[in-house]
Amino acid sequence: MSKANRKTIIAGNWKMNKLRGEARELLDAVVKAVGDQKNLLEIVVFPPYTSLDVAATSLKDSPVKFGAQNMDNHDSGAYTGEVSAKMLTDIGATYVIIGHSERRMYFAETNQTVPLKVKAALDNGLVPVVCVGELLDERENNLTDPVVKRQVGAALTGLTPEELSKVVIAYEPVWAIGTGKVCESPEAARVIGLIRVTLKQFLDKQPELSDSIPILYGGSMNAKNADELLAQEEIDGGLIGGASLKVEDFHAIIQSASKRARLSAARS
Ligand code: PGA
Repeated sequence: MSKANRKTIIAGNWKMNKLRGEARELLDAVVKAVGDQKNLLEIVVFPPYTSLDVAATSLKDSPVKFGAQNMDNHDSGAYTGEVSAKMLTDIGATYVIIGHSERRMYFAETNQTVPLKVKAALDNGLVPVVCVGELLDERENNLTDPVVKRQVGAALTGLTPEELSKVVIAYEPVWAIGTGKVCESPEAARVIGLIRVTLKQFLDKQPELSDSIPILYGGSMNAKNADELLAQEEIDGGLIGGASLKVEDFHAIIQSASKRARLSAARS
């Protein structure tokens, strides 16, 4: 797959928001808003666990996919409070976010636990959206590149080339998440370019496989800045938090992404 026909993905990370009734309303609105843009884009929403069954019902006849915001790497057993990949596929989820910075920050997710979860997700047919990104302090100390490379390398350890080609990566500078401080689009594109080089090194025998891996940007993406971010060739879509909770904003981002997808389809 060449980069021209790599999927453009718009993903909404709802975090710990929306009760079931509210989730149903938002999902119905998203389905309506997506309309005929479905063929060009992959649109995914990540509601909290308590609304995954609502998503399964509301999205049944829709091209919009859904996933979970986290999972455990074990299949089943005495792991109180955890949810497995099998449970997620059982409910109809097709994606799962792994290694989000909020999980790294508050729930002891590390470069050691992330690869176990990535592998378990792939073993069960889920697409893992692996989040990487530097802290403000790391950026200010010129550590962005080594931190991001290390996180990408750790997350993908032990995967076969075929498994690797099914992963989605999200570059989310931590200082840009939920702060309204978006990363300048050329800089986001530069770091994403670096991630793609890292992927190519991982896939040294089949470097072309790395071209099929979508790399998204996340961190204060909104209706106003989506056009500019998505105009960067390196940025294959967005992982959107706050702006995915309002259908007008999410829809505007989807429209920016369709523009991008139409342009790259025309180029190929
Ligand atoms: P934000 O969150 O869009 O609210 O910055 C992005 C994310 O955490 O994935």
